[in-house]
Amino acid sequence: MIKILTLKRDWWVIATVICMAALVATLVPELDSSLYPVLIVIPIAVFMTAGLIYWLIVSNRIHLQQKGEEGAAKIAKRSFAHTGVSTVQDLFDDLPIALLRVTKDGQIKQTNQFSRNILGIREGDCPNISEIISGLARPVPEWLEELTERAARGEPKLVQVTGPKSEVFLHVSLISMDPRGGSDLIAVISDATELKTLEAQFVQSQKMQAIGQLAGGVAHDFNNLLTAISGYCDLLLLRHDKGDPDYSDLIQIHQNANRAAALVGQLLAFSRKQTLQPDVLNVDEALADMTHLLNRLLGAKIDLVLRHAENLPNVYVDKRQLEQVVMNLVVNARDAMPEGGQVDILTCERVFTEDTAKEGVTIPKGRYIEIVVSDNGCGIKPKNLSHIFDPFFTTKDVGEGTGLGLSTVYGIVKQTGGYIFADSALGQGTSFSVILPVTKHVEQPVVDTMTGPRMIGQSLKGTTVLLVEDEVPVRSFAARALAMQDVTVIEAGSAEEALKFVNDSSLHIDIFVSDVVMPGEDGPTWVRKALITRPDVKVVFVSGYAEETFSQEFGSIVGAKFLSKPFTLSSLIQTIHDISG
Ligand SMILES: Nc1ncnc2c1ncn2[C@@H]1O[C@H](COP(=O)(O)OP(=O)(O)OP(=O)(O)O)[C@@H](O)[C@H]1O
Ligand SMILES: [Mg+2]
Repeated sequence: MIKILTLKRDWWVIATVICMAALVATLVPELDSSLYPVLIVIPIAVFMTAGLIYWLIVSNRIHLQQKGEEGAAKIAKRSFAHTGVSTVQDLFDDLPIALLRVTKDGQIKQTNQFSRNILGIREGDCPNISEIISGLARPVPEWLEELTERAARGEPKLVQVTGPKSEVFLHVSLISMDPRGGSDLIAVISDATELKTLEAQFVQSQKMQAIGQLAGGVAHDFNNLLTAISGYCDLLLLRHDKGDPDYSDLIQIHQNANRAAALVGQLLAFSRKQTLQPDVLNVDEALADMTHLLNRLLGAKIDLVLRHAENLPNVYVDKRQLEQVVMNLVVNARDAMPEGGQVDILTCERVFTEDTAKEGVTIPKGRYIEIVVSDNGCGIKPKNLSHIFDPFFTTKDVGEGTGLGLSTVYGIVKQTGGYIFADSALGQGTSFSVILPVTKHVEQPVVDTMTGPRMIGQSLKGTTVLLVEDEVPVRSFAARALAMQDVTVIEAGSAEEALKFVNDSSLHIDIFVSDVVMPGEDGPTWVRKALITRPDVKVVFVSGYAEETFSQEFGSIVGAKFLSKPFTLSSLIQTIHDISG
C-alpha cells in the first residue's frame, strides 16, 4: 500500500515538474531552447532519486517489522517447546484456568481442558453457551450482546450448569477480545459449587432457627388451648360413664387432644425449648403404639413388618426421642423405595460378654437391646456411607430433604448412651441398627391415657389453693377440677392480684399454683415475694415450657413442684395430693 502511494506520489512529482518546466519555458521566452531538456531532466532526476530513497526507507521498515513479528513468533514457539507446549492452542489448553472463546451469538469456538472438565463437554463439542448454562437473571443472548457492544469486562455472574452436571455452579466473567468491541468474547470460568453449597447451608440453618423460634412461640399458645380442651373434656367424662352414648365421642376428643399435645411436645423439642426426659420404657410397647403412624407414613405401596423379641428388657430413654429416631429411619426407608417395598423393624436383646469394637467404636460389655430398621430400597453408595450422619448431608433434591434426619438420630442415640450402625448394599437395601443399653431402673406405673380421667379417692377437703393463671379457660378448668376435690380455690388473673390476696391476713392459703409466664410479674418473681410473708405455703408452677428452662428461676424456691402444660385433670389433682401430703 505504501509502495503504491510512493509510486503515485512519484508520478505526481514528475507531472508537476514537467508542468513547471513548461511554465518556465512559456514565461521566459528568451531562454535558449537547448536548455529545455536540462530544465526537465534535472528536477525529474532529483525527485526520482528522493522518491527512491523514500521508498527504500519505508519498505525496509516494513520488512523489518515483518521479520520482528516472525522472530517473536519463533521465539514464542521455541519457549513453548522449552515448556513442552508446542502451540498457542496448546498454551490455551494447558492454562490452569477454565477458558472458553465464544462468538457474540454465544457459539462456543474454543475450549480448554479445564473448561471441558467443568462443563462436562468433550473436545470438539461446540454448543451454544445458552444451552449449557442456566440461572442467569436475564436471557444469555442479551448479556452477550451487551458485553460485545460495550467491549466491557463483565462482572462475574453465578450460573448453574445444565444437563448431567446440573449440581455444578459457576462464576462466569466475559471479556471482549477487541477493545473496540464487536469481536469474540473470552469466558473465564470458576467452580462456585462449594460456595453455593455453603451459602445454601447457611440459609437453611437460619431458616431452621427461625422455624424453631416460631414453633416455640406457637407451641406455648397451643399448650394453653390444649389444657382447656382436654381439661373440659375430662370434666365432661366425669359426668358420662361408659354406658353413656356420648362417652365414645368424648374419648375421641380426649385422645386427639393427647395427640395434639404430643405434636406440640415435638415442636418444643425441635425448638430446643424442651429438654426431654428419659423414662423406663419397653421398646416393643413404644413401637406398637407407633404402628398406626408408621403405616400412614409409609403409604399403601410399602409394607411394614414388625418382629418383636419375647420379654425384651426395658431401656431408659425418652419415648418421644425414640419415636423420632424410628420415624426418621422409616421415612428414609420409604424415600429409598419410590416403587414400593418392605420395611422391617426387628427388636432383640444383645449381650456382649466383653468390650466389643465395631466400626471404630467400642461397645462396653453388658446387656443391650437392638432395634434394626431395614428396607429393600436403592441402597447407599459406598462413598456416601461415611457421610450420612453428617448434618446437612443429603442426596435428595433441594426442598425434599434437609440432611438433618440422620444427624438428629445420631444425636439422640448418643445422648441416650447408645450406638447406631448403618449397612447398605447398592440396589439391594439398607439396614440401620440402633443399640441401646438395658436399664436397671424400675418401671414407674404409667397413667393410662387411653381411658378417661380418674378421680383420686382421698379428698382434699380443707385445703386452700391460690390459683394464679392469666388464661381464663385454663384457670376456670383448673378451679373446677380442684373444687371437685373439695379444695377451696382463690382465683387470680395476675401476679399483682395474687399479691393482694397474699397480703390479706384474713385469708388462709396452703398452696400457690401459679403459671410461670404471665404478663406483668412472672410466677417465680411474685412467689418469692409472697413467701417472705407466708414462708410455709407450698408451691406448684405450671408452664408450657420445660421445667429446665425455669429451673434456675425457681431453683431457690425450696420444694416447688412443676406441672407441665397441657395438664390433665388427674395430673393436676395428683400434683396437689403429692405436695400437700
Ligand atoms: N434407608 C436409606 N436408603 C438409602 N439411602 C439412605 C437411607 N437412609 C439415609 N439415606 C441417605 O442418607 C442421606 C441423609 O439422610 P438424612 O435422613 O440425614 O437426610 P435426608 O433424608 O436427605 O433429609 P431429611 O431427613 O432432613 O428430610 C439421604 O439423603 C440418603 O442419601
Ligand atoms: Mg431423612
